[in-house]
Amino acid sequence: MKIQRFSRIGFVMAAAGSAVGLGNIWKFPYMTGVYGGGAFVLVYLITITFIGFSVMVAEMLIGALGRKDTVGSFEALAPSNKKYWKYAGFMSFNGIIIMTFYSVVIGWIFYYLVRVLFSLPSTPNEAKEIFNTLVGSSPAIAIFCHTLSVVIVGYIVHKGIKGGIEKINLILMPSLMIILFGLLFYSFTLDGFSKALAFMFEPRWDKLTSEAFIRAIGHSFFTLSLGMGAIMTYAASLPKEASITKTAFIVTFMDTLIALVAGLVIFSFIFQFGAKPSQGPGLVFISLPTILHNFGYLGTFFAFLFFLAVAFAGITSAISLVEPVVQYLIDRFNFSRTKAVIFISFIYWVIGILALLSYTNSFKEVLTIFNKPLFDVLEYMTDSILLPLGGFLIVIFVGYVLQKDRVKAALESEMGRFYPIWMFSIRYIAPIALIFMMLNLIGIIKL
Ligand code: PHE
Repeated sequence: MKIQRFSRIGFVMAAAGSAVGLGNIWKFPYMTGVYGGGAFVLVYLITITFIGFSVMVAEMLIGALGRKDTVGSFEALAPSNKKYWKYAGFMSFNGIIIMTFYSVVIGWIFYYLVRVLFSLPSTPNEAKEIFNTLVGSSPAIAIFCHTLSVVIVGYIVHKGIKGGIEKINLILMPSLMIILFGLLFYSFTLDGFSKALAFMFEPRWDKLTSEAFIRAIGHSFFTLSLGMGAIMTYAASLPKEASITKTAFIVTFMDTLIALVAGLVIFSFIFQFGAKPSQGPGLVFISLPTILHNFGYLGTFFAFLFFLAVAFAGITSAISLVEPVVQYLIDRFNFSRTKAVIFISFIYWVIGILALLSYTNSFKEVLTIFNKPLFDVLEYMTDSILLPLGGFLIVIFVGYVLQKDRVKAALESEMGRFYPIWMFSIRYIAPIALIFMMLNLIGIIKL
């Protein structure tokens, strides 16, 4: 199977498109709010710098050297024990699990994109009502929107690397940045802006609980798309002349910048009207629309632009969640691209409906597992268990299994004197942090 190559800018945009997603604009702001602001942001920034960036280089390296689907790349590159290492490549199936809830949230965003054009809620209760109706009692609308998301994402992936994924990222990523920076410039004029700055950048250590600490590390993996083979699969199509280190740096930088900008925009609006930052997942669906109501027509316009940006971010990440398994089915089982897309889409469409129903009043009882709605179980599983596990396999593979001279030949000239520091992070810092995280989650070590 011949793998198509991205153009250089196409690759940067696709990898950034994967990284910049709901994680940046929806999850990061609400987690920052819940976990108390500054100190959480600081832990997140430190993890991204010292672990996230290095792991991204390692994941790109496997793809760029292997040039196959994730299973094929691990198998091809392992110097021995190929038949065991091949199983590490099955991390790409996590993408399907993530898609079951990710697509549902993209569906909610589609709904809001239209809903905000009609009217914005004038009170928090009204806003809650709209959100709860969508999530809790109108499954038909939510299913319709989730289906729309499955179809759009499937359509782009079926068009392939060049004609679908590269093209859409080259359009959506710059549009998303223009919208977000536009909103940022507007928020400079609000009194809430300085409060937002203080909230996000003045570390208040008393707020940093052990849970906040662990969640910040976990989130830095999710937001950079690490540990499931998305970046690896894209890197299999890396143009020959591109520098892995430089690309990983640009992608990490863009992802972080966009999360911070989204946070500043949202909190400026939140503080402008004295709303509480710690409202959890409903922050952008409940608080933000209510606050924008105060701005009249301008508010409607901002709300529409905001949800458009979130939709763009979500779609470009979603295609990177689906593509790895599609590539696997094409490489291994000779599926046609279209057939692979239909097959995969059908699976996460069905499970996504179950996840979505697990929030509804009529079905929540049947769809509760371990005392949690199926939706939360799926989210918790990927974010906290599967991605760190995938990340762990990647760093062990690059740090200890892959021949040293091969890694050196690929990266030393790019990194210069930073090479030993990167190697240290891959061999020691990242695995230790990841083991620590996984143990903590299984409850063996309780921080
Ligand atoms: N990075 C994406 C986000 O922030 C989510 C994602 C995770 C995408 C893992 C691909 C792989 O929303």
